[in-house]
Amino acid sequence: MESHVFYRRLGRAYPVAERGEGIYLYDAAGKRYLDASGGPVVVNIGHGVAEVVQAMAEQAGRVAYAHAEMFTTQVLEEYARALAEIVPLPDPRFFFLSSGSEAVETAIKFARQVQIDRGEPGRYMVISRWRSYHGTTLGALAVSGRAHLRQPFLPLMQDLPQIPPPYCYRCPWDQSYPGCDIDCAQALEAAVRLAGPENVAAFIAEPISGASLGAAAPPPEYWPLVREICDRYGLLLIADEVMTGFGRTGRWFAMQHWDVVPDVIVMAKGAAGGYFPLSITAVRGEWVEVIRKGHGDFVHGGTFSHHAVGAAAGLAVLRYLQKNDLVTASAVKGKALGEKLSAALGDLPCVGDVRGMGLMWGVEFVADRATKAPFPQAARFARRVADAAFDKGLIVYPGTGCADGVAGDLVMVAPPFIITEPQMDEAVRLLREAISESANRRMGE
Ligand SMILES: Cc1ncc(COP(=O)(O)O)c(C=O)c1O
Repeated sequence: MESHVFYRRLGRAYPVAERGEGIYLYDAAGKRYLDASGGPVVVNIGHGVAEVVQAMAEQAGRVAYAHAEMFTTQVLEEYARALAEIVPLPDPRFFFLSSGSEAVETAIKFARQVQIDRGEPGRYMVISRWRSYHGTTLGALAVSGRAHLRQPFLPLMQDLPQIPPPYCYRCPWDQSYPGCDIDCAQALEAAVRLAGPENVAAFIAEPISGASLGAAAPPPEYWPLVREICDRYGLLLIADEVMTGFGRTGRWFAMQHWDVVPDVIVMAKGAAGGYFPLSITAVRGEWVEVIRKGHGDFVHGGTFSHHAVGAAAGLAVLRYLQKNDLVTASAVKGKALGEKLSAALGDLPCVGDVRGMGLMWGVEFVADRATKAPFPQAARFARRVADAAFDKGLIVYPGTGCADGVAGDLVMVAPPFIITEPQMDEAVRLLREAISESANRRMGE
């Protein structure tokens, strides 16, 4: 029978996901999938955690929805208090929404309104980076740097300045670290001066790149330098921790690796670990005070903002992470996973780089290891690997465009923090098979 679902991949026959338990998903035909990426890096605590489901059900039974213009809820207040203990911002405030994209839009609007309310109404531009991803809505897409996702919608979007990313494997300045001048950070200053600081509201970036660059981390000097430039020119610094937040990189938030305090932290994916579509824009309290004295209120909303069931899910996931010390687990197991990936894949000629932090790893593919030449885009190599892995019952997350914005293939390996050593071994073995088979098939074409 023809389905009425408008699917994400129109040519695909989808298996029916029936059940999730731990690091595994099961389809209706009984096939088991080791979810080694939590889909697009979402499932931090694993599938089917009963106490999260119970907390959500209890909250839905008590009160599922009360409009955020009219009410607060006990669970929301408790969740915000719990967040304030782990989120590295001074006197933080939390605006709750339903997707990473919405939370990014919120951050952009917040930065703009702060600039107006502190007497700088000319500041509207948000500078971002090429080969970044901040979301699917037009505002978030305008600050995202993935050409193929932007292309059809360019006439609808603001044209905003973008700078090259810190990407040491393919340094845009052809330098190597150490010994370079951290041009990737200096580029922000050049962009601000070119745009005119009086026009720039904020800079947004992922602390460690997500699927666009496969867990590429910047050199240690990068974030302190960026913070200094933002301060010098009056920009708010927005850290997009949608993917890296809530322990994914081995710290609660990735910015903590550099001890750099942004003005805004955007969170989603791991916040509720897939149990609820929950996102959070966390801001410094001092900026909220600026808005209170200016406009009086934040000119923003959202029918499903500050959702009580979302707060119940987020709070239960947070408590689960704390109770089971899963952020430490992410750091410790992540190191082991990185070693296993490097050892198992290092000799494959099509594997150019294996990189990551905590339980967020990227494997970048190349057609030629010496020149780092990528596969042609038409080969869809990352997709092939991910599909081959899926057939074998392994879920990894593909990304494209890392090399030059169009070509360049990688997969992300980012399992739930509860993964065991034998499960890591199984994931790595299946991934090696999927990569080898995809490469061999390509050579045979
Ligand atoms: C860093 C980052 N920001 C924002 C988003 C957008 O989040 P969502 O898909 O929930 O709208 C994503 C999604 O992949 C992301 O990785």
